[in-house]
Amino acid sequence: MISFGLLFLVPASFCFFTVYSMPTTVHLRNMESFIQAVKQIEDSNPGLSPLTLVRALRSTAGHDDLMTIHFLGASYNLTDAMGILSFSSFSFLDKAIHHIVTDHGEERGVVLVPDGTTVALAPLLLGVESGLRAKIEGKPAIGIFPLTLGRTLGLSFLSLQDFPPSYRLGPNGCWDSVDHPKIFKLSRSPTLATDAVINGGMDGAILGTELSKLPASEQPQALSKILREYYNFILHEGQGLDAVTNHISPKRREISRSILEPLDLHRQVMETLALVWKLESTEWIGLDTGVGEAVKGGLQVFVHRYWDCPQIIPRCQWGAKDYRGTPVPLSLPVQFLYVHHTYEPSSPCLTFPDCSRNMRAMQHFHQEDRGWSDIGYSFVVGSDGYIYEGRGWNHLGRHTRGHNDIGYGVSIIGNYTGTLPSRHAMDLLRHRLARCAVDGGALAANFTMHGHRQAVNYTSCPGDAFFSEIRSWEHFKD
Ligand SMILES: *[C@@H]1O[C@H](CO)[C@@H](O)[C@H](O)[C@H]1NC(C)=O
Ligand SMILES: *[C@@H]1O[C@H](CO)[C@@H](O)[C@H](O)[C@H]1NC(C)=O
Ligand SMILES: *[C@@H]1O[C@H](CO)[C@@H](O)[C@H](O)[C@H]1NC(C)=O
Ligand SMILES: *[C@@H]1O[C@H](CO)[C@@H](O)[C@H](O)[C@H]1NC(C)=O
Repeated sequence: MISFGLLFLVPASFCFFTVYSMPTTVHLRNMESFIQAVKQIEDSNPGLSPLTLVRALRSTAGHDDLMTIHFLGASYNLTDAMGILSFSSFSFLDKAIHHIVTDHGEERGVVLVPDGTTVALAPLLLGVESGLRAKIEGKPAIGIFPLTLGRTLGLSFLSLQDFPPSYRLGPNGCWDSVDHPKIFKLSRSPTLATDAVINGGMDGAILGTELSKLPASEQPQALSKILREYYNFILHEGQGLDAVTNHISPKRREISRSILEPLDLHRQVMETLALVWKLESTEWIGLDTGVGEAVKGGLQVFVHRYWDCPQIIPRCQWGAKDYRGTPVPLSLPVQFLYVHHTYEPSSPCLTFPDCSRNMRAMQHFHQEDRGWSDIGYSFVVGSDGYIYEGRGWNHLGRHTRGHNDIGYGVSIIGNYTGTLPSRHAMDLLRHRLARCAVDGGALAANFTMHGHRQAVNYTSCPGDAFFSEIRSWEHFKD
């Protein structure tokens, strides 16, 4: 059998091109720094088209591989404005965009975005460029899926086809500091499709599709504005994500699913691979009979992990203290899902910093005041669009006295005595987390959902309003 392992893993670790002068200040690897750099270029080049700008960025980062040229043209030929980047911004942008993983497991070319997730800029910008090209040059939108996700997924599935499918994607990682992010370390050995590359690919597919469909009368906004609207939004109290109709980053999984799922992903990935091989004159690779199976198995994991499952913000991201002692393993699958509200904090959290602060406060209370080894809950649902990892899938929690070893305890941040959580937060728990748990083998398919108050006699948790709501949910039993 042909082994593709080395062939495709090599490009992930090549050294990047060092520019003549080092920047004097260390730049933060967050989306805001990137947007500010983009804004500076726009401000010093009035009238600059966003398409010219993304092309200049592609050229800066050296993303002129054969497939990109096939769909978008060579950036060195198309850029009528190479002079728009100053020397120092060139150096910064090259480093910011160029994606690599070092031998030490540090992923570069990625930025921390305000919602607490991490995004690779290259696939994001390729998606935006495809969409802008279609819109501004009046050409059909081509290549959005292959450029943002299709190629990476296909090559990742194939390069690791000798490993179980779950190893062919990911991983996520941790920033050295969420306030001053500089180094992003992956949590295990990388695939070509790290979480950040997939997040950037989803965002690129969403923004590219949206731009390509702008009505004829509407001109695309400046690139900095496009990125700010998607990443730097404000959610309002009382409605949160329920009131949001435009596309924003915490909705990337559901929106990318609605755009891409109707496309027949298996065929799309196979076609993308065939194109890559044709362009690289390596068609012989496609003759291997295992290719179709590798893609099929890989896509099943992709759909489960990135679409069915909600994105879970890992402990390192919210600043968790270590577990005290040794965690006790849970015996899986468990039969019960216990629903809680936190009561205190009593307000739903709407941003990554606020939800993280709430998580740290609850962990502090459980460890210091209660003397427990860790935050009690298995998972906690924010109203920012994300679920926060407590004790996680594999470890015994401390949430529902007498029942901890037979179920997960999941809490929505807020006091739901008189009001309900947002629809979005409830759906994350009811549909996404539950399905993710069942499909992942952590929760029995015929599991029972109970409110905390049904298991013990001393609490009104999860609050009167929320409890009457969950009584109508599937899997709820009296
Ligand atoms: C770039 O432009 C030159 C001259 O205009 C042309 O001959 C060449 O084919 C172009 N290359 C690509 C890759 O588009
Ligand atoms: C929780 O909500 C109830 C009903 O709105 C209210 O009476 C109670 O004081 C609230 N508790 C906290 C801690 O906010
Ligand atoms: C759920 O399914 C398992 C295995 O199929 C079975 O042993 C168990 O009795 C079922 N539990 C309930 C509550 O129906
Ligand atoms: C709670 O109290 C009720 C009535 O006092 C009793 O019937 C029930 O068994 C108790 N439940 C638990 C879990 O202790």
